[in-house]
Amino acid sequence: MSRTAALHAISTEIPSRPARAAHAGPATIAEISSGLLAERAATSPKYLYDSLGSKLFEAICELPEYYPTRTEASIFEQYGGEIAQAVGTGSTLIDLGAGNCAKAASLFPLLHPAQYVPVDISRDFLTEAVHGLQQRFPHIEMTALGLDFSRSFHLPASVRPARRVFFYPGSSIGNFAPHEAISFLRRMRANEQGDGGLLIGVDLIKDGAVLDAAYDDAIGVTAAFNLNMLRHLNHLIGADFDVTQWRHRAFFNAEESRVEMHLEAREALVVGWQGYERHFGRGERIHTEDSYKYTRRGFIDLLQEAGFAATRTWTDDAEWFAVIHAKAIGD
Ligand code: AVJ
Repeated sequence: MSRTAALHAISTEIPSRPARAAHAGPATIAEISSGLLAERAATSPKYLYDSLGSKLFEAICELPEYYPTRTEASIFEQYGGEIAQAVGTGSTLIDLGAGNCAKAASLFPLLHPAQYVPVDISRDFLTEAVHGLQQRFPHIEMTALGLDFSRSFHLPASVRPARRVFFYPGSSIGNFAPHEAISFLRRMRANEQGDGGLLIGVDLIKDGAVLDAAYDDAIGVTAAFNLNMLRHLNHLIGADFDVTQWRHRAFFNAEESRVEMHLEAREALVVGWQGYERHFGRGERIHTEDSYKYTRRGFIDLLQEAGFAATRTWTDDAEWFAVIHAKAIGD
């Protein structure tokens, strides 16, 4: 056998795409695959949050360009007393997308919840955060739930039924399209006996340049956050994304009233996973996140469609962000 023939024989035995292990279940693999194979490829923003992604999001919250966290915190600081009065003490505080639990924890001295129920898809990150928190607040019963509440909203029996207050800060509701937000809020309402409520943070429409900068910061933390999704997908579905072949894109889409995040192919490339293959042309994108922005009035109308009546709204002086307390409308 000639040398080239021998090499050829070897190379045909080595599969060009070694199978990589998937760490997600079949339902998740199917969901991600259909998104990646769609004509306009898209993935759910929940896959931004593995352990590193959660840490990168924490770093985003420290950026000068990323105003939402800081602005919301200033509203809690300025109006904490009024907010506590509206929400009431002794509640079962259900913190959706709790992350490092810092926002809720800063309200404990005002809200005095009887039970704290942080919920987050990033289970290990959450468990660590709650462990530290329980030591600081030993008298509050804490029940951490590592689950994907966008998929199922079933609360275990360990969550007290009385005075359930859903805490949904940070404008995470913006990840849902308005019609999805309404059904999500309706599910929240169905998990409450009418004696609880909702405390929600909403990002408001503002100058497009401010929004663009908030999602495309100068030192590239948001770019890393977005690109990290590819590493996470490699782990979840055993894909062979090469992160260096992609770039971060983010911009305010005024017609749709949302900031969009995409990952854009820097060159023509092929991605493989689980026997699937997808070709991306240069400049082709994967849509990774929407972050909808509302007017105050627009969001209160949306709450009403979901069966909630806003009792009070607090904003910062520039009206960049709103914190709204709402109660279920009796039926
Ligand atoms: C956690 C969904 C509220 O939309 O502002 C931050 C996520 N994405 N920078 C947002 C995010 C890019 C964030 N939420």
